[in-house]
Amino acid sequence: MKARYGQWALVTGATSGIGRALARQLASQGLSIVAVARTATALEALAAELAAAHSVEVRVLGVDISTREGIARLVEGVSDLEIGVLVPCAAIESSGYFVDAPAETHGRLLEMDCYGPMALAHHFGGAMAQRGRGAILLVSSLSGWMVQPYMAHYGAAKAYILALGEALHYEMADKGVHVSVLSPGPTDTPMAANTGIDFASMGMAVMQPEAVARAGLAALGRRAHAIPGLRNKVMVWMMTRLVPRWAAGRMFRWMMSRALGIAR
Ligand SMILES: NC(=O)c1ccc[n+]([C@@H]2O[C@H](COP(=O)([O-])OP(=O)(O)OC[C@H]3O[C@@H](n4cnc5c(N)ncnc54)[C@H](OP(=O)(O)O)[C@@H]3O)[C@@H](O)[C@H]2O)c1
Repeated sequence: MKARYGQWALVTGATSGIGRALARQLASQGLSIVAVARTATALEALAAELAAAHSVEVRVLGVDISTREGIARLVEGVSDLEIGVLVPCAAIESSGYFVDAPAETHGRLLEMDCYGPMALAHHFGGAMAQRGRGAILLVSSLSGWMVQPYMAHYGAAKAYILALGEALHYEMADKGVHVSVLSPGPTDTPMAANTGIDFASMGMAVMQPEAVARAGLAALGRRAHAIPGLRNKVMVWMMTRLVPRWAAGRMFRWMMSRALGIAR
């Protein structure tokens, strides 16, 4: 990867879950890591771990990327580096009735889950296109492929990432830049735990972040999509090819209302 894309990989959400697994796997391939999250102690712990385990350079940036100032600080903080691999992994999720949350809350999710990855892909993708090499792994979700009642805004944000990344996969190939979209299903991380949903009881497989990260990195330079796990692949196939969209919407309304304990 280092030979193909360059020395530095930038990972947002690098201190936990899928982002941390991606940062670890990129470092294990000899790439130096820019690790982005808000919590300084977690960033320092990760930096120490990666430097000790893989003898790579690590730069940590403690910024809140749900704000445009945070995105600007991030870009400024690496202005002296050539970022060869970009993984804008951090995101926030929301659930419940769309109309019950304030519009400002939805606006923050839009900034974090859509504007941030878009702005970073635009900035670093532009530099990669000029150099004629680089890789971007955008992180969507199974939610981006499906009709998601009670997670409507999160699903819509992830559908945006899916559409953007899929189109960039083909468009950026002209510029020598590899773009893929990782669409995890339920994964054993704090984000999944915070939803309060028992995914296993819904018949869904809960994967470990390491396996999810491996599937994402394996897609770079090969495929537009990485859907980790056989059960997740079957789920996407069923919900996009087999079941009509109206039926999928009704099915998910039933499943998600039960999973989230929503009284209809
Ligand atoms: N887990 C799943 O089941 C699942 C399923 C499908 C898709 N995904 C997607 O996979 C990605 C990673 O999810 P995950 O479950 O691995 O997340 P996670 O374990 O909850 O980790 C979130 C990371 O993002 C950072 N972060 C959160 N808010 C931030 C902010 N405002 N500014 C900067 N950093 C911030 C966190 O650190 P700080 O709190 O210190 O900032 C942490 O490093 C997301 O795009 C998610 O939508 C996850």
